[in-house]
Amino acid sequence: SIAAHLRDHANKIYIGSALAPSHFTDAQYSTIAAEEFNSLTPENEMKWANVEPSKGKYNYGPAEKLVEFAQQYDMIVRGHTLIWHQEVPDWVSVLSGDDLHEVMIDHITTLVTHFKGSIYAWDVLNEILDEDGSFRKTIWYNNFQTQYIADAFEAAAAADPDAKLYINDYSTEYSNNKSEALYNLVKELKSQGVPIHGVGFQTHSSVGKVPSDFASTLKKFTALGVEVAITELDIRLNGQSEDAQTEAFVEVVKDCVSVSGCVGVTFWEFIDKYSWISEETPCPWDSNYQAKPAVAAIEAVLE
Ligand code: G3I
Repeated sequence: SIAAHLRDHANKIYIGSALAPSHFTDAQYSTIAAEEFNSLTPENEMKWANVEPSKGKYNYGPAEKLVEFAQQYDMIVRGHTLIWHQEVPDWVSVLSGDDLHEVMIDHITTLVTHFKGSIYAWDVLNEILDEDGSFRKTIWYNNFQTQYIADAFEAAAAADPDAKLYINDYSTEYSNNKSEALYNLVKELKSQGVPIHGVGFQTHSSVGKVPSDFASTLKKFTALGVEVAITELDIRLNGQSEDAQTEAFVEVVKDCVSVSGCVGVTFWEFIDKYSWISEETPCPWDSNYQAKPAVAAIEAVLE
């Protein structure tokens, strides 16, 4: 039979989307999600403030809905995200020093253990670098400098030794200070024996902004002994044509497919209707649930 959906073409890499269970009542949304993708990332449901809004009181329900959806439709799950400077609950942001360190380790251990066996990869750290390549001055950095980095990976590895553990960031697809700092950090962590297995390139992009050397950047990272993935892809129209947007989607997927060690591409929501970006139609499906030409073009690249 003729393969009609993205996931049917995804033999070399997985093809995924961020999903939100709050949209599952929208039948067209869940149908497309189940038919098209063999991977999903919870868009918000595993973030600290949502999953542990008060100390030790876990709200697993929404995240479990996504994990069950993945199991029902034979999809893998990228866990997102353990440590971030956003979505830090109020009860955590008032802590410091040893108390903060203890709840950090406890949160990672509890969450990773709860979902052990159903998560392919965790974004252990998200967005820890600034644009100039310095460490972002987060509650984590301000309290522990860089020591929390290894501690977070060690805690996640202890809780689920089979999960791939990622560092994830944006604007790192370019040849810039941030990307170079990320490269040096991953290299350093690998040399210290820290259990880091992957680097996520969010790739919130724009027509005309996909760098022509993206594939060589991905390849450079894989040479450090980690896998890489495009983890949050969307491409703002930037005043350009839909054809140009199609080309940009194709370019990014091609870049991943061409690099052995680039394991998958995840859209940050697949449909304009539910994108975190309310303008510039950045997704491969339009708000009327119609696949844009990008979808067929991506299928061709996946073959
Ligand atoms: O669910 C509540 C709703 O009950 C309430 O009425 C409403 C009022 O503001 O807020 C809703 O929550 C919002 C939530 O998205 C669900 O829509 C939050 O305010 C809003 O801050 C949250 O934004 C998310 C953002 O991360 C911050 O966590 C976006 O959906 C999500 O797409 C975005 O994703 C991030 C990645 O995690 C990391 N990389 C960048 C990416 C885009 O910012």
